Amino acid sequence: MKILVINGPNLNMLGIRQPEIYGSGSYKDLCDTVNKHALSKGVDVEIYQSNFEGEIVEKIQSAYNTADGIIINPAAYTHTSVAILDALLAVKVPAVEVHLSDPERREAFRRINYVKNACIKSVCGKGTDGYKEALDFLTDYIEGKR
Ligand code: DQA
Repeated sequence: MKILVINGPNLNMLGIRQPEIYGSGSYKDLCDTVNKHALSKGVDVEIYQSNFEGEIVEKIQSAYNTADGIIINPAAYTHTSVAILDALLAVKVPAVEVHLSDPERREAFRRINYVKNACIKSVCGKGTDGYKEALDFLTDYIEGKR
């Protein structure tokens, strides 16, 4: 099983950016957590990060017929990007959305969420553990257990 993990803008700044919200772990720590969990489950993961909306759209398109599932933290594009929503709807690869923080409990503008309309589940406010929960849910879903 192949899972594509996509992280959006500024997530490469984890550990530096607002640690009181996103925690003190670095982006490499996040990747290590995801890779370790995937290895323990025997799942093949590719982790990708970009600060550019069009690159994220192209990465989602690349999942068509090549990936079994997508885990995506679109970061700020969550709240603005119809293009990312449309790309997920186009490829029809099951997708789970993850947010380290809980956008519902933050500023009002973060309550607007385009991307969740194309996702089978949202995991919010659980820090890096949220990626593990997303991987567990998505693999069960793909295997027909959910
Ligand atoms: C985020 C939440 C977004 O509102 C924010 O723009 C981010 C990160 C999260 O993981 O909590 O960049 O997606």
